[in-house]
Amino acid sequence: MKLFIDTANIEEIKKINELGIISGVTTNPSLISKEKAILIDSIREISKLIEGPVSAEVTSDTAEGMVKEGKELSKINKNVVIKIPMSEEGLKAVKILNSESVKTNVTLVFSAMQALLAARAGATFVSPFIGRIDDTGNDSINVISDIVEIFKKHNISTEIISASIRSPKNVLDAARVGSNIATVPYKTLIQMISHPLTHIGIEKFNKDNKK
Ligand code: E4P
Repeated sequence: MKLFIDTANIEEIKKINELGIISGVTTNPSLISKEKAILIDSIREISKLIEGPVSAEVTSDTAEGMVKEGKELSKINKNVVIKIPMSEEGLKAVKILNSESVKTNVTLVFSAMQALLAARAGATFVSPFIGRIDDTGNDSINVISDIVEIFKKHNISTEIISASIRSPKNVLDAARVGSNIATVPYKTLIQMISHPLTHIGIEKFNKDNKK
């Protein structure tokens, strides 16, 4: 499973990129507003820092508006992927953008059937939301593994990005059931590095080395 970072914070992207562990970035309007940034500027900067896919979300509520925004954003850099919300208008926009070779990431996916529709419309990526599914009392991992199974069974090449990740356990679960990608907040990626036994082991080796 590949790892993306889920942030619009430039410092976080730079720091995590030095570790060689991430192959893409996802943003959304909330993450960009948290940085008090302007979408276009933010995506321009991020897409220069990272070679892999950088998702930039549209905010229009009509297919026409989404396509217009998507085309503008896709001009920023060749690695920009247009993030489109799951809806009738969103699916229409995905179909049009796909026919013009613009890559899309269908977001706010909460069921396997939504993921299937997104894939059939021509989405490059689909983003099921682990944390927000679990918040409803449903089991997100059942949703992810259904999508994995359906895509495999029907030779669908759309890649699954497990999103709305809140803990290393969410990442573990996504990897176990075969998600292609997990997009993970900076804090969670850092948590994944640590293990108390690693710290104890390093201290002991350093102590013994001095003896
Ligand atoms: C990424 O593509 C999603 O927009 C993001 O993971 C949503 O995360 P949240 O549920 O923590 O807002």
